[in-house]
Amino acid sequence: MAYGLLKGKRGVIFGALDENSIATHVARRAIEEGAKIVLTNAPVAFRAGTIKKLAEDLGVEAIPADATNVDDLKNLFEKAPEILGGKIDFVLHSIGMSVNIRKKREYFDLNYDWMQKTYDISAISFHKMMQVAHKLDSLNEGGSIIALTYIAADRTFPFYSEMAEAKAILESYARSFGYHLGERKRIRVNTVSQSPTMTKAGSGVKGFAEFFEYSDKMSPLGNADAASCADYCMTLFSDLTRMVTMQNLYHDGGFSKMGMHPGIMTGELRII
Ligand SMILES: NC(=O)c1ccc[n+]([C@@H]2O[C@H](COP(=O)([O-])OP(=O)(O)OC[C@H]3O[C@@H](n4cnc5c(N)ncnc54)[C@H](O)[C@@H]3O)[C@@H](O)[C@H]2O)c1
Repeated sequence: MAYGLLKGKRGVIFGALDENSIATHVARRAIEEGAKIVLTNAPVAFRAGTIKKLAEDLGVEAIPADATNVDDLKNLFEKAPEILGGKIDFVLHSIGMSVNIRKKREYFDLNYDWMQKTYDISAISFHKMMQVAHKLDSLNEGGSIIALTYIAADRTFPFYSEMAEAKAILESYARSFGYHLGERKRIRVNTVSQSPTMTKAGSGVKGFAEFFEYSDKMSPLGNADAASCADYCMTLFSDLTRMVTMQNLYHDGGFSKMGMHPGIMTGELRII
């Protein structure tokens, strides 16, 4: 169901790769809510082809940009307002990649060059996109910026490896940049801490399927799926949440507030 929450708004969505990507769900919902959007992803994702097909399906333009590359980001934030006919009201950062996880390096044997790459892609890109968009004056007064994160930024989830630190940096940028953009342009910056979700990035993590089930059982409402994450993002991009900024907002069916589950003690809650 659509409510016209984003009628007249213009957005840039980073990270839609395929039909499972959380960003793809957000892009579809934003259009349903009346927004005009531009999609963007790394050039390598364009070579794979699915982003182009997705943009065609949605009837929107897609601009290649490696989110770690400031020149690519400048090109993106110059072109997007031209394509959309005005300044940008909302941005989604839905980007994550760990080189050490991909190459199966354990946390006590990490390669530091790869770690820097991980931080650049998964966290520093968030600062870069906000800095570039702000310097180019591409963002509208009263806008809203969201990055997707995970609870491992705050609690230990051993399988999440160096991505835990990447997400901690990401969440800190939301607070720090949220201050500056709030003071200057009343722009909100928040992170949404999402449940485990079956996507390419998610399923690359060791033991993901088992943990997905564990998390689902530990959460009173079950895991939040990508479609419900997109719904939540609509509220955060809309003017209804115009006073919410610099927050890490859990969207996880209650997982983050659980201490223990009685079913584990009684043996009724079996994970595998
Ligand atoms: N899937 C989960 O379980 C889960 C849970 C919590 C948070 N998140 C976060 O949600 C976000 C989206 O991930 P997803 O699960 O939809 O997976 P996904 O694999 O569909 O999306 C990750 C995206 O990052 C993009 N990307 C990688 N390197 C890039 C670069 N250099 N420049 C631009 N884009 C680049 C990929 O092309 C891809 O589109 C990530 O930040 C992820 O950490 C995911």
